[in-house]
Amino acid sequence: MSSTHPIGIFDSGVGGLSVLRVLREQMPAEHVVYFGDQGHVPYGARPMAEIQKFSEGITQFLLEQNAKIIVVACNTASAAALKYLREKFSDISFVGMEPAVKPAAEITRTGKVGVLATPATFQGALYASVVERFGAGVELFQNTCTGLVSEIEKGELDSQPTRRILEDALLPMLEKNIDTVVLGCTHYPFVIPLIQEIVGEKVRVIDPAPAIVRQIGRLLEMGAGRNTSSLKGEVQIYSSGDVTKVQAVLPILLREHLKVHPVNWVGNRNIVLV
Ligand code: DGL
Repeated sequence: MSSTHPIGIFDSGVGGLSVLRVLREQMPAEHVVYFGDQGHVPYGARPMAEIQKFSEGITQFLLEQNAKIIVVACNTASAAALKYLREKFSDISFVGMEPAVKPAAEITRTGKVGVLATPATFQGALYASVVERFGAGVELFQNTCTGLVSEIEKGELDSQPTRRILEDALLPMLEKNIDTVVLGCTHYPFVIPLIQEIVGEKVRVIDPAPAIVRQIGRLLEMGAGRNTSSLKGEVQIYSSGDVTKVQAVLPILLREHLKVHPVNWVGNRNIVLV
């Protein structure tokens, strides 16, 4: 496989762009093909089996675009499908997301940590295993921030509804003396400034994207290879939803003006270019 093939990244929507923006800073030469499943967002309250089917269809699509590695830049899709995808597409490397309980457990001083993620992420075996492996001696306070993903999809990073959802989640956690917040959903790093304003500067908020990008770099070096060109890589963005709406929020989230290509789902498993 050529090192000039793109990195494939997907999410239920714009969340994976929080990983893409760090990737663009750290590995600017890499080409990227990004898929946002706006036709089905949010994933968080859907059944695991359904999210798994979507993830399989999207992986297939990204492989058809010659992806050299697949980044499941979505905690919910990782919870529902990462194990299955690794078994099914065994000749490609996957990077997935899991809530950053491990670093949080290492840095907390009060021993109390807030975790924000979707219902599916909290229900999945991946989260249970992370808590079992790294959560000993730490008290975790969880919240699903209902409605927050939809607000971020609209680019509402500082609106009253967004603020209310975050205050409802975080103020009770502050009363319990949390000193660390884990963002277990890739949409949430876009509201870090607002979260930080609510919890105060003393509370650490963990954005998992830099660690994920380091892991992408390690896997590329071990396998498909880094793009060594000195030119900036191209980013192709595909959406199964309303491309004009996605296009409108891109400059807010990514600070890049990129064209969004429309795609359609045919049933639950196949994606075609429009
Ligand atoms: N960005 C997602 C995650 O990391 C999915 C949110 C959703 O679609 O509910 O979990």
